[in-house]
Formats: sequence, C-alpha cells, structure tokens
Amino acid sequence: MRILVTGAAGFIGSAYVRHVLREHPDDEVLGLDLLTYAGTMANLAEERDNPRFRFVHGDIADADLIARLAPDIDAIANFAAETHVDRSLLDPEAFARANVIGVMTLLDAARRHGLRMLQVSTDEVYGHVPEGEAAREDARLSPRSPYSAAKAGGELMCLAYGTSYGTDVVITRGANTIGPRQYPEKLVPLFVTNALLDLPLPVYGDGRQVRNWMHVDEHAEAIDLVLRRGRPGQAYNVGADNERENLDVAHAILERIGKPRSLIHHVEDRPGHDRRYGLDTALIRDELGWRPRRDWRQTLHDTVDWYVANLEWWRAIREHDHRFQEYYERQYGERLAGVGRG
Ligand code: DAU
Repeated sequence: MRILVTGAAGFIGSAYVRHVLREHPDDEVLGLDLLTYAGTMANLAEERDNPRFRFVHGDIADADLIARLAPDIDAIANFAAETHVDRSLLDPEAFARANVIGVMTLLDAARRHGLRMLQVSTDEVYGHVPEGEAAREDARLSPRSPYSAAKAGGELMCLAYGTSYGTDVVITRGANTIGPRQYPEKLVPLFVTNALLDLPLPVYGDGRQVRNWMHVDEHAEAIDLVLRRGRPGQAYNVGADNERENLDVAHAILERIGKPRSLIHHVEDRPGHDRRYGLDTALIRDELGWRPRRDWRQTLHDTVDWYVANLEWWRAIREHDHRFQEYYERQYGERLAGVGRG
C-alpha cells in the first residue's frame, strides 16, 4: 500500500510514519507537512534515508498539490491539523482553515481517485463527559472549544462525503497522547521541560480536571488498524483507560525528574475548560483487537525520560524559536506574573 501521511513531521504523524515503515515492509509512505511551528524535520531524521519514504513540503489545503500527489497513492492518513486548545482560543480561524477546509481538500482527492481516507480526530468532539460515564462512538457530538468544534466539522465533512459521494472514510477519536517528540506546549511536555528548567508549572484552576492518557506508539498502532481494517463510515474511539487528574500528572512528572512540588503554581483557568473526557473503547478492542501494552507509569516514564535524554531537541524550540517564546509570553505572561517565569 502507498499511504499519503499528512502532518508527517508532527508528533503523532511522525510516530505513524515510523510504525508503517517498521511493520509493513512492502508499504511506501509519502509524507506531507507544511512545517508550521509544531512540525520539524528533526522528527523524521531516521526515516529520510529510507527508500520507501518520500517527503513533500506543502499544505493539505493546496488543492493543486494534492491533485498532483493523489495518482501515486492508495490511501490518505490525515494527521495534519491545528491541535492546541489554548491556541484555538487565541486564533479560531486558523483552526477552521486547517481542520475543516484542509480536510475537505483531501476528501476531494479521495473522492476523485477512489482512495480510502482516515481522519485523525479527537475525543474532545464529545465535549465534557460526567464522572462515571464513557462516550461511545454513537454519542452526541458536543464540542465546546474552537479546536474541538473544528475537528468535529472535519469529521462531519468526512461522513458527508461518505454518504453523498460514497467516499471510503474512517475516523479515529483519540484520547490525550504523550511520548517522544511532542511540541512542548501541551501539559506533559510543557511541564517536563519547565521542571527541567526549574520554571513554574502553570496548573489551570484547581488542577482536578481529568484526562485519559496513552502512549503515542499505541495511538499510531490503533490508527493503522483502523486504516487497514476499519469499516467504511465508522468512527473508532482510541484510549488506554489511564484516567488521571492534572495535579497527579504534575506530581508524577516532578517525582520522576526529582524536582520539588513547590514548582507547581495554580493559575487562571482555561476559558470553557472541559472538566473530564471519558471514552468507551470496546469497539476498537472487540472489532479490531487493539490492546495498549504500556500502563500509565511506563507511558509517563518513557515520555519524561525521552525529554531528559534529548535536551537539544526541545532546547532548539524553547530557547531559539521566537514563535515558542512569543506564544509562551502571550499564554503565561500574566498568569505567571511575579513567580519568576524565566
Ligand atoms: O483529548 C485529546 C486531546 O488532548 C487532543 O485532541 C488535543 O490535540 C490535545 O492537545 C489534548 O487536549 P487537552 O486540552 O486535553 O491537552 P492539554 O495538554 O492542552 O491540556 C491537558 C490538561 O492540562 C487540560 O485539562 C488543561 C491542563 N493544562 C494544560 C496546559 C497547557 C494546564 O493545567 N496547564 C497548562 O499549561
């Protein structure tokens, strides 16, 4: 199979490229990435010399480019997206462009060339899920942030192409994902790198919000199963059932690195902050046999240890990329005013 992997230089996309090249020796991967702030060729350093891998720099919303690539592929796995909730609150339009219009451009190519298209989506499309409940795939979509609304829009466009044009679409709705190479703006990589720099860990509100964590390699494996064996028109929840409160995650990070809990600072909350996500993952487990192998501790330790061992990877972003510094100041400047934010 020849797969177009969009967002190939990103966190989950690059893990997926590695997964396919390793697990499917006859497959070829065409990687596409716009290389925005969050994508870097450093994430594909080892894959670049692989004769089964080719990379193109470009935008999923560039219809001419996608039309040129489409005749040489059998399937599309779309990882390209704007993904950070806090950024979506600052600039919603960028999210609509990438996560809805970009998806539609890929769908047009899939439709014309008879390709299967997998859309990587998120458990945030269900919105807040009360304690004790777990959203099944047929639950109502109730996104509450510009990010999750745009992702829901992208998904619905996929389903509409399936219904209207018979395009072969499948969707994954993933839970919070951590592991090597995640841009240091999300909770875990931000807190790990802040702790390593002896900077405060900004916990939004009371820190009792619940997220469900999984390792990026397991997420990549699930996506691959759905791409190859998922039922057309079906969405699959993907999550490893590791529910943790944010404060507990912060404590576990500090413990692994050997830094004091006094680095934790409660700051102004994220507007519209979803309290909890809860996923029922029976479908992907029963139908496709997916099983995460790492427990919570292994998942977190593997992640923390990677950042400890790869200082040059994240220091290049945190210390030398003005885009990170501008974002950090905008997001945390006032929140951390007076607590030595570095
Ligand atoms: O659930 C899947 C989603 O998980 C993905 O679709 C998103 O792309 C991904 O960013 C993630 O969304 P979250 O909003 O859950 O992730 P984030 O790491 O931004 O935040 C996790 C929790 O930590 C959330 O309750 C907000 C809190 N938080 C986050 C940051 C960045 C803080 O308390 N302080 C922070 O500085």
